Amino acid sequence: MKILVINGPNLNMLGKRDSSQYGTETLAQIEENVRKKAADLGVEVSFFQSNHEGAIIDRLQSDAGASDCIVINAGAFTHFSYAIRDAIADTKLPFIEVHLSNVHEREEFRHKSVFEGLAAEVIVGHRGKGYIMALERLVKLLSKKD
Ligand code: DQA
Repeated sequence: MKILVINGPNLNMLGKRDSSQYGTETLAQIEENVRKKAADLGVEVSFFQSNHEGAIIDRLQSDAGASDCIVINAGAFTHFSYAIRDAIADTKLPFIEVHLSNVHEREEFRHKSVFEGLAAEVIVGHRGKGYIMALERLVKLLSKKD
């Protein structure tokens, strides 16, 4: 099983961003933990982070064929990028939306997600652990299908 993990804008700055919302782990540390979990679960993971909407869309288009499912934290694009919504819908792959912070308890504009109705699950407020949870859920979800 191949899982594509996509992170959007400003997530490259984790560790320096507001730790009360995002925790203290860097993206590299989160990815390392995900890599270890993937090895335990016997699945493959690949990572992509970009601050650019088009680059995320390009990666979804190019890697979808070689992936079985997706974990995405689209950062602020979550709240308004219909272009990323379309790109992820076009992959036809199951995906889980992750947010480190609890977006529902923050500003009104963060309550809306363009992925609503598409994501298999949404995991919020678990900081870096949310990515591990997403991996576990996707592996369960996809093994049920076989
Ligand atoms: C975020 C929440 C978004 O509202 C914000 O713009 C981010 C990070 C999160 O992981 O909690 O950059 O996606």
